[in-house]
Amino acid sequence: MRRYSRITGTGSYLPPRRLTNADLAAELATQGVETSDDWIVERTGIRARHFAAPDVCCSDLGLEAAKRALEAAGLLPTDIDLIIVATSTPDMVFPSAACILQHKLGAPGGAAFDVQAVCSGFVYALVVADAMIQTGAATKALVIGAEVFSRILDFTDRTTCVLFGDGAGAVVLEACEHDGSGPGILASDLHADGKHVGILCVPGTVSGGKVLGSPLLTMDGQAVFKLAVGVLEDAARTTLEKAGKTTADIDWLIPHQANIRIMQSTAKRLKLPLDKVIVTVDQHGNTSAASIPLALDHAVRGGRIKAGDTLMLEGVGGGFTWGAVLLNY
Ligand code: ACO
Repeated sequence: MRRYSRITGTGSYLPPRRLTNADLAAELATQGVETSDDWIVERTGIRARHFAAPDVCCSDLGLEAAKRALEAAGLLPTDIDLIIVATSTPDMVFPSAACILQHKLGAPGGAAFDVQAVCSGFVYALVVADAMIQTGAATKALVIGAEVFSRILDFTDRTTCVLFGDGAGAVVLEACEHDGSGPGILASDLHADGKHVGILCVPGTVSGGKVLGSPLLTMDGQAVFKLAVGVLEDAARTTLEKAGKTTADIDWLIPHQANIRIMQSTAKRLKLPLDKVIVTVDQHGNTSAASIPLALDHAVRGGRIKAGDTLMLEGVGGGFTWGAVLLNY
């Protein structure tokens, strides 16, 4: 017998403003930026994304997702003793989005902090929460991925602004004890390599009351693509090995929803059929740290993921960071 952390509830939230590729193309055309539904669908698989209203922050999106996850778990906000928000677009420089969300939720007293690992943020946050639950530092955690990437997009750069969207996803993690055959996180694997800082970043900073450098996202798309498929395969294989499992044990692969071609390449390298891959990038775009819990919640509520299924969650993003979590749902 040992202590595991298991997902007991999932939730997600998308801001109501939905833009199809045609809507976005029409808006960009007014600024002289040319793109098309055909180009975006063919290169990325994205068909639509949601953008938050100007007065809506990361913690607002995360709050709605958290409420839904708590409801699904049958818990109250006051039951929670740990809140981790994975985000690169927090409400302010400090305090953390997690502290702001904790107050809005009415869940005072437990630990609350943000994890910043860009698109790998949710996987990083899940691993941290799992470790805290295993050691007894926490018993009931909310792990949230929430992003307003629309705030850091350069809408004059068609190579990046068509890729991203806003949204949030959340899970409730609770401690449980069993012999390894029950639900819970089985194994994980996290990595980073800071030498790739330049291929995907928002290089600006705040100093002396001013923004120094660009506050907008820049990316070398082809470099990101090559790196992503390699590390996603490695992280999945290492995680399976740690758990004493093989790819045949995976019921569902839930990769970071960056781009359909990255997901297809990863599945092919892992020899997993595409019908075992949860895909929501077509409807949400790339929501960075929110993408995995959003996809998870959609698949749970859509009835595809069922109790007892084995899930592989995989993230990759700026840093560069990457990682995977294998769990029994
Ligand atoms: N609409 C129309 N044309 C476009 C657009 C657009 N939105 N963007 C670029 N183009 C044009 C370019 O100008 C170029 O034209 P040219 O040949 O006349 O110069 C042409 O399309 C090809 O451009 P490339 O950048 O070479 O296009 P590529 O095939 O590499 O696709 C893409 C770009 C989709 C970004 C690809 O590199 C990719 O998928 N990279 C992965 C990056 C990614 O998913 N990042 C997400 C964030 S990172 C993460 O989450 C892990």
